[in-house]
Amino acid sequence: MEARKTVLVTGGAGFIGSHLCIQLVQKYPDYHIINLDNLTYAGNLENLKPIEKAKNYTFIKGDIANAGEVDQLFDKYEVDGVIHLAAESHVDRSIDSPNEFALTNVIGTLNLLNAAKKSWEGKFDQKMFYHVSTDEVYGSLGDTGLFREDTPYDPRSPYSASKASSDHFVRAFYHTYGFPILISNCSNNYGPLQFPEKLIPLVINNILHRKPLPVYGDGTNVRDWLYVLDHVSAMDVILHKGKTGETYNIGGNNEMKNIDLVELLCDICDDELGRPVGDSRKRITFVKDRPGHDKRYAIDAGKIKRELGWEPQTTAELGFKNTVKWYLDNQEWLKRVTSGAYQDYYKKFYGQN
Ligand code: NAD
Ligand code: TYD
Repeated sequence: MEARKTVLVTGGAGFIGSHLCIQLVQKYPDYHIINLDNLTYAGNLENLKPIEKAKNYTFIKGDIANAGEVDQLFDKYEVDGVIHLAAESHVDRSIDSPNEFALTNVIGTLNLLNAAKKSWEGKFDQKMFYHVSTDEVYGSLGDTGLFREDTPYDPRSPYSASKASSDHFVRAFYHTYGFPILISNCSNNYGPLQFPEKLIPLVINNILHRKPLPVYGDGTNVRDWLYVLDHVSAMDVILHKGKTGETYNIGGNNEMKNIDLVELLCDICDDELGRPVGDSRKRITFVKDRPGHDKRYAIDAGKIKRELGWEPQTTAELGFKNTVKWYLDNQEWLKRVTSGAYQDYYKKFYGQN
């Protein structure tokens, strides 16, 4: 993308989107960053405090599943680039309410594509629609192998099925209409500001409160973990240097079994909190497995390294330590986001408060 002026970020009040908005607003003062977010349970304007008064930043509360609202935004602003992150993002919730995932992730994406296509007619060469997706669209790996950009799609949860469907629509617009797109598929992110129903902040929060630490099944499922600011730098590089129509896989080269990760978090927390060695590990509790729980995700991130020169900068050691420290230093934030609706959700899934 050339020096574009107005960039629409969707889902910018969520975990990854808020880091992205902060980075773009501060790094590119000549860009106008518009953040479109419906503020679901996962959206938190408090995350955007560092930029809320910035001159080159505008927040708009709106629902991507509402075509009228999306059209209005494109009528009002001459948008040059879209970075589309708004989504329902939690696999466990998708098992409970798949329709909500189809509505936001599929119809919402289609609404954005339609609005951008209409608004950008005759100017496709100056525009870019960058769709942010997940490695989960590729399905589940055995003990070996890596997801590549040409790995066939094989989504297995309602969440990954909805993200796969949205990816297909984005590619269909490229092939059918010559609409300018980029897609990236990234592995599991971690870091500050993540809603504490995802594994890492949930475990840290429970360690703090000496609550059981729920590990699904036998804990041998493997995920590849990427520090969220590395994902942000990858998105920046893809937006500015990515080749129209291409897909890039983003990974952390950091595969871990869930149980090993939870034990590591216990040890870092105990050390930070001055608790005896092994104290928190005692509260690890194996609970009923997630239905259809994907066994292993792992990324071949060779293409983005070769073609765009990006690779992760944050070591696992530093990333996990920074992350634990952030949650321990921001217990008020944790308290605020774990009150209300989240408590009801927790009770429903884990049968306790
Ligand atoms: P998140 O759940 O923390 O945030 C999602 C944001 O989207 C929230 O602010 C929410 O309010 C907003 N939103 C939801 N429905 C909306 C709607 N209908 N209209 C407008 N806004 C709406 O998610 P995240 O972890 O930050 O993930 C962001 C994106 O990155 C998602 O598309 C996700 O699929 C993708 N992704 C996430 C990860 C990860 O590990 N978290 C990994 C790879 C890809
Ligand atoms: P999650 O953060 O939900 O991400 P995803 O399912 O999209 O990879 O979960 C990461 C891994 O941790 C996944 O294998 C499920 C597992 N998990 C637990 O063992 N216990 C939990 O309480 C949660 C939320 C997840």
